Amino acid sequence: MTRRIESARVLRNTRITDRLWWCEYEAPVIAASARPGQFAHVLCSAPDQLDPLLRRPLSFSRIEPDLGRVAFLIDTVGRGTAWLVDQQEGSEIDMLGPLGGSFAFQPDRARALMVGGGIGLAPLIALADLAPAEGVQVRLLAGGRDAHQVTPRAWLHSNVEYHVATDDGALGHHGFITDLVQDHFAWSDQIFVCGPTPMMHAMANLTDELTAIHGPRPAFTSLEARMGCAMGVCYSCVVQTTTGPQRVCHDGPVFPQSTLTWTWHHEPTATAPSVG
Ligand SMILES: Cc1cc2nc3c(=O)[nH]c(=O)nc-3n(C[C@H](O)[C@H](O)[C@H](O)COP(=O)(O)OP(=O)(O)OC[C@H]3O[C@@H](n4cnc5c(N)ncnc54)[C@H](O)[C@@H]3O)c2cc1C
Ligand code: FES
Repeated sequence: MTRRIESARVLRNTRITDRLWWCEYEAPVIAASARPGQFAHVLCSAPDQLDPLLRRPLSFSRIEPDLGRVAFLIDTVGRGTAWLVDQQEGSEIDMLGPLGGSFAFQPDRARALMVGGGIGLAPLIALADLAPAEGVQVRLLAGGRDAHQVTPRAWLHSNVEYHVATDDGALGHHGFITDLVQDHFAWSDQIFVCGPTPMMHAMANLTDELTAIHGPRPAFTSLEARMGCAMGVCYSCVVQTTTGPQRVCHDGPVFPQSTLTWTWHHEPTATAPSVG
């Protein structure tokens, strides 16, 4: 895997809801090799301040190799993300990437069901961008606590069929995004999921139930984890899989859904066991 530190130039930071931002960068080296599902580890402070010290992982939401550009969908949850969206056009940020493995459409399959909870929509937007060129139809289900957590339709590829659910009912279906899955599962022939861990766990259970009725299809999940190094060195992001402990940053973040045991569910930053 080619990964580089690049000084990325801020092109535009656009506020798209009360809490979500769409941030575009000129980063030609990273854009040349990044794939949907991969992420960048971004320094969220001036290099002479290093506060916060640790980089923050962000999934690519748009990758435009021809233009040398990438974009992130950013939920401003804390100091690092707030600093990032505050950077002015033309300023430079320190970006390490692309990191981790990617999502990919499966051969000889053409109907992708994507399920994103909250900021979990971020990598699915980039994957959906590739669908028309690969002859794949996309139904994208997006859930949020309220309307401010839901990405507006305008930021998605026009070919995407978009369905929304909010916990408070302010937008789309009133309830969880997983409520909508059974309406689309039979149509799908491949599934991609990203979101908060409880939502992804619920989605895995639902996939098992619906597979018993409609038959199996490949399903992939991109996991969230608190990260230190994002280079596979510190073991702060280990999860348990059917093939043993795996590092989300290095072995993931994308995993076949059926390999995840969800046993780390309540302790995402627990002391990591050794990896063989
Ligand atoms: C592989 C990967 C891809 C990601 N992609 C995106 C993305 O595209 N867009 C985006 O906005 N965010 C993404 N995240 C989450 C993002 O990295 C965190 O929200 C960010 O690091 C928070 O930094 P902060 O300094 O703003 O907040 P902090 O001050 O560090 O934390 C603020 C709050 O956010 C929580 N938090 C911090 N990091 C995480 C995390 N990794 N998972 C869950 N909760 C967290 C903290 O517990 C705390 O409650 C991704 C995370 C991973 C692991
Ligand atoms: S964050 Fe260090 S090993 Fe994954």
